Amino acid sequence: MVDKGLKGVIAAETELSFIDGDQGILLYRGYEAKQLAVRYSFEEVAYLLWCGSLPTPAELTAFKAKWVRYRQLPEPVIHCLKQIPSDMDLMSQLRTAVSSLGMKPFEGTPQADHAIAITAMMPALIANLYRAQSGQPLMTSIPANESLNHAAHYLYMLTGELPSDVHVNALEAYMILTMEHGLNASTFTARVIASTESDIVSALTGAIGAMKGPLHGGAPSAVTDMLEAIGAPERVEPWLREQLEQRRRLMGFGHRIYRTKDPRAEALKQRIGLMESHDPWLNLALLVEDTAVRLLAEYKPGRELYTNVEFYAAAIMRAIGMPSELFTPTFTATRTVGWTAHILEQAGDNVIYRPEAKYVGPRHSSVNVS
Ligand SMILES: CC(C)(COP(=O)(O)OP(=O)(O)OC[C@H]1O[C@@H](n2cnc3c(N)ncnc32)[C@H](O)[C@@H]1OP(=O)(O)O)[C@@H](O)C(=O)NCCC(=O)NCCS
Repeated sequence: MVDKGLKGVIAAETELSFIDGDQGILLYRGYEAKQLAVRYSFEEVAYLLWCGSLPTPAELTAFKAKWVRYRQLPEPVIHCLKQIPSDMDLMSQLRTAVSSLGMKPFEGTPQADHAIAITAMMPALIANLYRAQSGQPLMTSIPANESLNHAAHYLYMLTGELPSDVHVNALEAYMILTMEHGLNASTFTARVIASTESDIVSALTGAIGAMKGPLHGGAPSAVTDMLEAIGAPERVEPWLREQLEQRRRLMGFGHRIYRTKDPRAEALKQRIGLMESHDPWLNLALLVEDTAVRLLAEYKPGRELYTNVEFYAAAIMRAIGMPSELFTPTFTATRTVGWTAHILEQAGDNVIYRPEAKYVGPRHSSVNVS
């Protein structure tokens, strides 16, 4: 018997995250991710994943100063950005742009800093690709503004304006909660490439290729499409019932691993509670969630279908004005922390991945060439 998709197969030991799908628990290095998302910044949680413990105040100050310095894109990368065809989709462009980092891999940058350098550059890469696609001027001179944290810097690079605290906090919570999630397809890809002792840029380029697939990184925009199709509170129940009668899936519900509430969705919902409650979009999302969970229990009894992280990610992204074509690139920027942490962990105790395939084709006794 082959475990297709390696479902249930343990392929690595990790100290980075622990997931209990039955209990709805997600830990980063032993700490609950949902608590980290409320109490700590993106930079602090990235430090935790990369370095193994939360930073002291002095460590954090030095770390943040370094992070801000690495935001500036190297000149060869800017040159490459300008050459990328604008008719490629954003994820393909991002994969190409990240690959271009390998042309001059961080000259003078200590190897231990490669993870922070790439993560710090991601907002400028994504924002400039988006700017080029939407006919806006590139922002190649990146402000070394230490008062802008990673999430704020990302929004600033996209809009050219200082974002509100409400938007920054909501995006930051999303970014922390989606930073790392075990051995998913893209993380596994990154570890496999790292296991060949290839470089970090190659491992990340492969991970982005995996993330690009609709079965992995593409769900939040499907949720916004659903919320847009519903449109108004009075249409929520009839619309959802109609989908379930037609045996269609409700986007943003159910999860391969979580058989109870996805802890990340719970934490994002709390964050939404802190946003303007009069926002009709968020109110619609809350109503859709309540109704969908009730109807899923009615139509699919015993299947334990609850809201997943993509549902509230979509609601938050839409509420902060993030264009839907940036949902997956934003997830990519965030997951870069998890990928790089796994790449470093793999390098620390490396054995090249070499599973086996079971041959199920024919065996011919001779080759007949006529
Ligand atoms: C995420 C997902 C693929 C997980 O699938 P899974 O755990 O393998 O569950 P299955 O596909 O085996 O589904 C089990 C049952 O629940 C139903 N189901 C699962 N998710 C459902 C959903 N979102 N809406 C309606 N029914 C759903 C299936 O139809 C199936 O019903 P059946 O037993 O009557 O055939 C699935 O829940 C899904 O497609 N969700 C919608 C897409 C989405 O939100 N993706 C983002 C994931 S983070």
